[in-house]
Order: sequence, then C-alpha cells, then structure tokens
Amino acid sequence: MPKITFIEDDGTEHAVEAGADASVMQAAMDNLVPGIVAECGGYANCATCHVYIDPAWADKLPAPEEAEEVMIEAAFDVRPTSRLSCQVQVTEDTDGLIVRLPASQTGA
Ligand code: FES
Repeated sequence: MPKITFIEDDGTEHAVEAGADASVMQAAMDNLVPGIVAECGGYANCATCHVYIDPAWADKLPAPEEAEEVMIEAAFDVRPTSRLSCQVQVTEDTDGLIVRLPASQTGA
C-alpha cells in the first residue's frame, strides 16, 4: 500500500498507508490525521482539506482541474504548492508522498 507522510506545522509527522483508490484526504480521515476536516466530503467545494505538497512531489502529481483551482483560492495561506487533498488521488506512483498541513488547520 502506498505510504503518505503528513507533517503538521509544528513538525509532528503522521506516516500512514493508503488504499490505492483513495484520495489523500480519505487517507488522512481514515487515519485520524488532524487538520483535515473535509466538510464537503471530497467534492472540491470547501477547501478544508487544504495541504501543501512537498516541493519534491509537486511536479509529479497530475495538475489540478479548474474546480480545484477555483476553490483553493478560498483557502487560507495559499502557496504555489497548495492542493485540495480530496482531489489528489493515491496511486502506486504516490508511494512516499509528503504533504504538509497548514497551521491554520492544525491550530498551531
Ligand atoms: S473535502 Fe471539501 S474541498 Fe476537499
């Protein structure tokens, strides 16, 4: 199973295994990773699943679709590597993916 490491703003790491058909958001929810609320359930309609993709991974993922690009603008502290984790699909190619959680979502 692909592994994903979530890193909170204070450096706390959460290394989880994800099903190959899951989104990064679903992997976080399944493993009780803090900071991923996912109010809309994964429909790119809330931005409460905002993460920063590690720069080493940013260019390896499929580009965001228009709905994601529009919604990400509603998130706090948007950066060039910002993504909605519900729109990032876990595959065998994402094994080892590293994402960081915005301070605004983890209470740091
Ligand atoms: S869960 Fe709502 S935008 Fe990702």
